[in-house]
Amino acid sequence: GRVCLAYSGGLDTSVILKWLVLEGYSVVCYLADVGQEDAQDAAAIEKKAMLLGAERMVIEDLQKTFVEDLVFRAVQCNAIYEDRYLLGTSLARPVIAKAQVQVAERYNCQFLSHGCTGKGNDQVRFELAFKALNPALQIIAPWRLPEFCNKFQGRQDLLKFAAENNIPVSSSPKAPWSMDENLAHCSYEAGILEDPDHTPPKELWKMTLDPLDAPDKPTEFTIHFEKGIPVKVVEGGKETTGSVELFKLLNKIGRENGVGRIDIVETRFVGIKSRGCYDTPGLTIARLAHLDLEGLVMDSKVRELRDQFITVSWSRQLYNGMYFSPEREFVENSILFSQQNVTGQVRMMAYKGNAYVIGRSSDASNLYSEQDASMDSLEGFSPWDTTGFIEINALRLKKYGLQKQKDGQP
Ligand code: ARG
Ligand code: SIN
Repeated sequence: GRVCLAYSGGLDTSVILKWLVLEGYSVVCYLADVGQEDAQDAAAIEKKAMLLGAERMVIEDLQKTFVEDLVFRAVQCNAIYEDRYLLGTSLARPVIAKAQVQVAERYNCQFLSHGCTGKGNDQVRFELAFKALNPALQIIAPWRLPEFCNKFQGRQDLLKFAAENNIPVSSSPKAPWSMDENLAHCSYEAGILEDPDHTPPKELWKMTLDPLDAPDKPTEFTIHFEKGIPVKVVEGGKETTGSVELFKLLNKIGRENGVGRIDIVETRFVGIKSRGCYDTPGLTIARLAHLDLEGLVMDSKVRELRDQFITVSWSRQLYNGMYFSPEREFVENSILFSQQNVTGQVRMMAYKGNAYVIGRSSDASNLYSEQDASMDSLEGFSPWDTTGFIEINALRLKKYGLQKQKDGQP
């Protein structure tokens, strides 16, 4: 049979590739470029795949789809998981899975394979997507196959197999944690980080400078939004448009000022608690700017419902790998509706590990009025009405207070 394998060029997937070849499969290797540094050396990865016996290597640049369809949707709904995680890995999975299925179909593969471990979220995300998109394709998850796991019980076994099978192994020592990088973030988990009280070493963070080493001078910039989507960034007198370009600029501003580091313990879909560190410079900035603009232009009741139901649901759906589901489509329609007037600019400053909003403006909404808000004007608002407003709202509270007094409760 023929397998389409998600191949990164690293030790694990190289061993899986060789193992599949030795098991008698033809292997089409697939690598999605979602902005990770490792994908930059496409030629070397292709060479390695072919050397290990792949039938072909397909590398695709998915950065634009990733940013426009997933990262910007996350910005539009202020996506966040367990109040901390901005979902960087979760956002990339649907884009990668869909492209991998298309490649499998293009080259008449009967199988899909990946190198995700058996305790994580990623296996769930990939396989739910695979099944939703083409249930006829069978899945080979080596890290859940006894014959594979028994053979490879640790890194030493992988290295031994690599040596026996002429698999080139990178000479730079492997970091003592696992990483997943894309335009939205870089994640660090496992290894020495499994002790949640072990401070991440200074050299761990790839996408941000240590805030302690960040410049003493802030970076000022403006983000322009249209219907909740960042469309332009102005910095140092220069305008940047184009989804990928402007997002990379936000990453650069965040990187240089050490914005967007978090170190958390999260609950995986499978229920296991896991410690993760994440570097999310551009998305942290874009999310903050977007939240701020919504304060200016968004209807308060829509906002309240959105915060209670839509943000949590969409974030949970993405985290749990439920992207290709009716509920995600349902929720996404609400997101788009909620963003009709989220058009305007937010002026910001990034400085020593933080991003700050220093002003905002919009022509798209009539909700904010300086006159309404002014302490110096009574135009369009009669304070006498407020007396009744307070009276009516107090009806219930007065009764509650009297009841408590009667019952002798404090
Ligand atoms: N814990 C994060 C998530 O579930 C990051 C996962 C990183 N994946 C990886 N294969 N290293 O989204
Ligand atoms: C993995 O590499 O599969 C573990 C990370 C995760 O999927 O949550």
